[in-house]
Amino acid sequence: MLTIDRLTVEHLGHGCVTDNPNPRFSYTLNGAADDVVRDVTLTVGEWTVHPDTSIATPYDGPALTPFTTYPVTLAVTDAQGVTVTATTSFETGRLGEPWVGTWITDGDYQFTEKKVSPKPMSFRRTVTLAAGKTVARARLFATAMGVYEFALDGRKVGDRYFAPGFTSYKTNLQYQTYDVTDQLTNDGANSDANDDATGTHTLIATVAGGWAVGSFVFTRVNRVTADRQALLAELRIDYTDGTSETIGTDADWDVTMDGPFTMADLYDGETYDATRAFGPDGNAGGAHWRKASIERPKTTPKHIEADYGAPVREHETFAPISCKRRADGEIIYDFGQNFAGVVRLDIANAAAGQTITVRHAEILNPDGTLNTTFLRTAKATATYTCVAGNQSYAPRFTYMGFRYIAVRGIEPKQLTVTGVALYSELTRTGDFACSDERLNQLQSNIVWGAKSNLFDIPTDCPQRDERMGWTGDIAVFAPTACYDFDMGRFLDKWLRDVKAEQLPTGGLPNTVPVQGYGFPATMPEMAIAWWGDAVVLVPWAEYQARGDASVLERMYEPMKRYVNACRFWAGLFGFGKHRYIWWMPTPFQFGDWIAPDVPKMQQWQARGKWTGTASLNNTARTLARVARVLGHDDDAREYDALADRVADAYVSVFTDGDGRLNDEFQTAYVLPLHLGMFPDAATRTKAVNNLAALVERNDYRIGTGFPGTPYILFALADNGRPDVAFRMLTNERCPSWLYEVKMGATTIWERWDGLDEHGECPIGDDGTDLMISYNHYASGAVGAFLYQRIAGIEPIEAGYRRFRVRPLVGGGLTWANGHVDTPYGRVGSAWSITGDRFDVTVDVPFGTTCALTMPDGTTHELTAGTHTATCTL
Ligand code: BGC
Repeated sequence: MLTIDRLTVEHLGHGCVTDNPNPRFSYTLNGAADDVVRDVTLTVGEWTVHPDTSIATPYDGPALTPFTTYPVTLAVTDAQGVTVTATTSFETGRLGEPWVGTWITDGDYQFTEKKVSPKPMSFRRTVTLAAGKTVARARLFATAMGVYEFALDGRKVGDRYFAPGFTSYKTNLQYQTYDVTDQLTNDGANSDANDDATGTHTLIATVAGGWAVGSFVFTRVNRVTADRQALLAELRIDYTDGTSETIGTDADWDVTMDGPFTMADLYDGETYDATRAFGPDGNAGGAHWRKASIERPKTTPKHIEADYGAPVREHETFAPISCKRRADGEIIYDFGQNFAGVVRLDIANAAAGQTITVRHAEILNPDGTLNTTFLRTAKATATYTCVAGNQSYAPRFTYMGFRYIAVRGIEPKQLTVTGVALYSELTRTGDFACSDERLNQLQSNIVWGAKSNLFDIPTDCPQRDERMGWTGDIAVFAPTACYDFDMGRFLDKWLRDVKAEQLPTGGLPNTVPVQGYGFPATMPEMAIAWWGDAVVLVPWAEYQARGDASVLERMYEPMKRYVNACRFWAGLFGFGKHRYIWWMPTPFQFGDWIAPDVPKMQQWQARGKWTGTASLNNTARTLARVARVLGHDDDAREYDALADRVADAYVSVFTDGDGRLNDEFQTAYVLPLHLGMFPDAATRTKAVNNLAALVERNDYRIGTGFPGTPYILFALADNGRPDVAFRMLTNERCPSWLYEVKMGATTIWERWDGLDEHGECPIGDDGTDLMISYNHYASGAVGAFLYQRIAGIEPIEAGYRRFRVRPLVGGGLTWANGHVDTPYGRVGSAWSITGDRFDVTVDVPFGTTCALTMPDGTTHELTAGTHTATCTL
């Protein structure tokens, strides 16, 4: 019998508030292979449609009205006439409706200091409900220049962190919608001090500098978007008698700089003085409130739109696995997991005015103290001043990347510490496990690398003074992220900014949103291989996973402009085949970034002509595929032809024409092998054997940088050398994935040699700007290999309507399990080996077909259901 497993609006099962005039609806059915769907009816308010796909049907009915809840019903009828239904709802936001409120600030606050963040600013408004009326519906809409949090009668409104989120503020700013109906009682039911029988309530917003005003990027620039914080909010109250009232931010609001938060900075941490806490109505703590001023921030975002991303929230919590008090009184806690987030302090019997400091770090020095060298300028310190008695505190306007903390100012017996992981709200869609515990730890490290860096935007790292949207990192990691999580909303949001930041000539900045570090967008034509490639590779990865071609439509023009810019740079000053070799470091290349076989930054960058040329082949080929999906056949032919010419040039210029590189290094073989650039099977085989020999000479250790690492195992395994791929994957000698695991890593490191065999960091200032992060997801891109080759799960058609399961046996593994929650339901592959017998169980979701290929080469066509198959190895 058919059932409906999932019904979503804009990727959300519930709670969607949207300004998209055409929100997208998706559903997942469950049923047996012989179940037949006779009819699907989707009803949204007054509009009804019979969708021909379960993925992302856009609303196409009468124009949606703002501030309205729309019921959504899905009815599915089978061949016997049995109908099942599922319901959800969504709410429209402002849909362009002008704000009643206006931007407000503290007009007296002149913030001119450099390289730091402004003092947090607080705003207050007392709201008195109409006498004798009952609130039917109340919504608070809010956004800020800075990051803000609202409290209503002393209680935090909503559960997200860092609202309104990080976007390219010139173009895009999100606002949040909070349902405050239940808090706005008119009968004294909320017995807070300030909520009396007359229905008086107090709204207090605190706005810290965040990305828009605070110090950000490694140069610590500040005031990029606005000179000081500003707030824009509106409270809309509908009463049960049909009347309404709207209260917007204006000069009637109060403002103060005297709140309990005395410092908040994304890198440096937070300082909170509980003796200055406001209390529910803002009258405790001694703050001097005065009237707010109307503000005109120096940046006016083109679009202020209801949240469309994946907001940061609290997730896992960690109790410490050890606590050591040092002779100097500092207490060192180890949470056993590196992660991004904050620490919660539960404090007993404090004295008023007692001050506690908490420093954070990823690793310890040999003497057991925190090693904070690699945080560079980030102070990563929380400082809390207590009131008398018991209390709790956790920072709200900063976050850190850490495993260890060092606490001063309190006795261990008075303190309970809890690590709180913060990251974007993402539905987990996949997992992988196998008989080798080390690979399971690797999978966990990959997932934690992702959780720590999918932080409203895709960041490079969560600890040092960067945490920026480096395009190259997500360009290579996106396919793995899309196995582990439903990345739909997260990537949609970030890609809007990629589009916004692109220059008309096609160049893309290295970090998106730009926010203080614009290179190379400051030089308009610039295109940088592999980093800029994100504009092509990220939408493609998302499309493969979720099957929603609208992301390709939205990004098609930006993709084309970018690939055209790359073609221009490659062709500059070149003749003949050299027109397709990105031969000069023009305009600039990161090359084989972080390749461990050449330790110097200049050596990584010097490989730019190989990596750049292969990038042009890859983006042109991918763009041709995109063009074909969208029906742009002429473009498809044009970019395929470009990709062919680039491949031919690569092979002609860089190899002897017989599968050997003139200058050999791993990435230079990996890319043409993985991207199919060699002209025939014979040359390919020679090339893979040359790569294998190179890897063997390197004791099966990694020699690839960012562009090669994601693909090296595929390049080997898919071209006949899975033996070498598995030896490399299971190698424990540095540099290798399992060396990190052997050394106790709980996340993916930026540098393979981050710790030596004694567990100490061997790298000082070696000319790489102290770039030693222990939480960088890029080389975790190997995760795709675990899913696609070892478990063997891979879409044939985007979104998995048709997919393959083709397990790759090797590495001494005796079993492996992988699953992926696709738009059609769960795909599973679980295999085991007993003697020379291979057994596999495959889960095929309703509405899909699976091509199963066994290790002996036999194939099976599978339809919905759970299937087992056996062969002899
Ligand atoms: C970041 C990298 C990034 C790189 C670009 C680094 O500082 O942490 O991950 O892609 O710069 O070169």
